[in-house]
Amino acid sequence: TEQKQALFTIFGATGDLAKRKLYPSLFRLFKKGELADNFAVIGTARRPWTDEYYRGVVLDSIKDLMRSKTEAEAFAAHFYYQSHDVGDSSHYVNLKELGEKLRHTYKTAGNQVFFLAMAPQFFGTIAEHLKSEHILTGEGFERIVIEKPFGTSYDTAKALNDSLSKVFTEEQIFRIDHYLGKEMIQAVSAVRFANPIFESVWNNEHIDNVQITFAEFIGVEDRGGYYETSGALKDMIQNHVLQVLSLIAMERPAKFDESHIVEEKVKALKAMRQYTAEEALENFVRGQYSAGYFDGETYRGYRQEDSVASDSQTETFAAGKFVIDNERWAGVPFYVRSGKRMTEKGTRINIVFKKDPDNLFAGNCDDEQSPNILTIYIQPTEGFSLSVNGKAAGQGFHLEPFRLNFRHDSEFLGNSPEAYEKLFLDVLNGDGTNFSHWEEAARAWELIDVIRQAWDNQTSEIPTYPARTMGPANAFELLAKDGREWAWQP
Ligand code: BG6
Repeated sequence: TEQKQALFTIFGATGDLAKRKLYPSLFRLFKKGELADNFAVIGTARRPWTDEYYRGVVLDSIKDLMRSKTEAEAFAAHFYYQSHDVGDSSHYVNLKELGEKLRHTYKTAGNQVFFLAMAPQFFGTIAEHLKSEHILTGEGFERIVIEKPFGTSYDTAKALNDSLSKVFTEEQIFRIDHYLGKEMIQAVSAVRFANPIFESVWNNEHIDNVQITFAEFIGVEDRGGYYETSGALKDMIQNHVLQVLSLIAMERPAKFDESHIVEEKVKALKAMRQYTAEEALENFVRGQYSAGYFDGETYRGYRQEDSVASDSQTETFAAGKFVIDNERWAGVPFYVRSGKRMTEKGTRINIVFKKDPDNLFAGNCDDEQSPNILTIYIQPTEGFSLSVNGKAAGQGFHLEPFRLNFRHDSEFLGNSPEAYEKLFLDVLNGDGTNFSHWEEAARAWELIDVIRQAWDNQTSEIPTYPARTMGPANAFELLAKDGREWAWQP
């Protein structure tokens, strides 16, 4: 590995995200030698911390990953803290000075990566100051990494993007969607395009429907404040689910690289039907978890969670049907669902194939043919399964469904890198393939805004589902009215 040269500046260095994701991911890259001598990190936030205190926080965040104290301390020695008010120009002068010093000490070749790990309302101000205070010099590469949520609607996302675009080009902006860093999401393209047996049937002639489930076991935890302003539709469907959907639906890219892949994803998103308010209500349903009881444990309802209104109408579950109006997918519904406090954590994609319309065995037995289902398991187990029909062993002729299974625990692989770690290395390599691009985000908001508004205009109470179940009844009716059902494939 050739070590990377870069100065990182983290805005929001004292926050939870930095501690949970940023520092551990940088440390993993350090352990692998991707980061060695030629990197430095400036952490900024309002609190008046010293370098020593900051390094202590960094050390604490990597304590589960470190092999030795010496190694961890060598890593933490690259971290510097600068108290900073993002709206105060004079503070950027200090930041610039410190940056220049570190650039020479650590020989970072003028490369800079900015992480905005804080509330989006400050993104524009920060970007503008980076330019006006000449922290951006154009000497090395200069990239900015931002976290979700990227806006809360098309309009707010557009305003946010406009303010960033005044300073950075699209190639310099890396919008994180951490699902795109997950091993099995990246594997979707391998399954599709490296297997003629799948690629040849990846269309409406052979596929009956596609199902994407993002089930979570956890409730809202301590994020009630944020979640009340978001809900499942914006928290999961607008970003993660639509990203995955576009990877499944896109046409084969001319080349397997960033620009070609993004082009095809955008085309797929644009071919998705934009619903009217009425269609949105027909095709999308929501729910909120109420108190539940499972396996000897009781779980409180969403409205009893911290920082949640006692009459909250926020959805903790959303499900719906998307359709894509193009040649490949006409007539194939894409069912999606995501929720908190569901039966178990399970992220998976089910490709449900059409059954043979001509049942050759009708005269031999009246066994139903099960549909072939290709399942891509994203987490907690990773892998694939394919359900096929076989003959039940023994006398006579009976059909029996079998599963071809290749699944493993992600832990078991050991070398399966954390999503964030992969994404940060991509940033250092300037590869934006696994990031959300403006056109993708924009289109996703257009599709989601209609649904959100239709729900907001409803006066009826939000439907509920008991904690630790697979969602409200309406999510099952959604498929039942099409003569289908959710495949779970445990
Ligand atoms: C985040 C959402 O983007 O993804 C959370 O804001 C959710 O609400 C999380 O819990 C799920 O991610 P993962 O990687 O744990 O499946």
